[in-house]
Amino acid sequence: MSTPETGEKLQMHIDPTERAWIRTAIAVLIVFAVSVTIAGFMLGIQVPTEEQRVNPNTLQDSLPWSEPGVRTIQENSEYHVYVVAKQFFYEPNQVEVPVGAEVTFFVTSTDVQHGFKIQDTNVNFMAIPGEVSKLTTTFDEPGTYDYICTEYCGLGHAVMFGSVVVTPEGG
Ligand code: CUA
Repeated sequence: MSTPETGEKLQMHIDPTERAWIRTAIAVLIVFAVSVTIAGFMLGIQVPTEEQRVNPNTLQDSLPWSEPGVRTIQENSEYHVYVVAKQFFYEPNQVEVPVGAEVTFFVTSTDVQHGFKIQDTNVNFMAIPGEVSKLTTTFDEPGTYDYICTEYCGLGHAVMFGSVVVTPEGG
């Protein structure tokens, strides 16, 4: 039977190299915190928020997901776009919004994890089964902006894309 060792003093020895690394780690954290703050509040970079949880199996039994696509909230100024990602396409694979409008994307998946990146914009997030990702953007120039899948989701990953057609004012 062993007896517990008592009377041993707890000594806190920190090696100088370790101390330097601890300081470095803290400095890096501070730099990250500052950059995130600048990105979020000064550059307007948004982190996609989890809008709501959904059941991917029954998602398309009811609105709005039974009819994904564009909803006009206010003509020429505010639109909501519902997109369902699936192996290996988006539903719908083309949406049309006017230039300059505030467009909020709601994206989810019914099978595996997909990506949703709209080229030439700050819209870039994951489409996750069970979660709705939401991000708002404004298209300043008319044209066609492709959205592509950025998460490897299977054999058809490379052909998974769609497009946002941004129409000119009054068009
Ligand atoms: Cu969907 Cu890659």
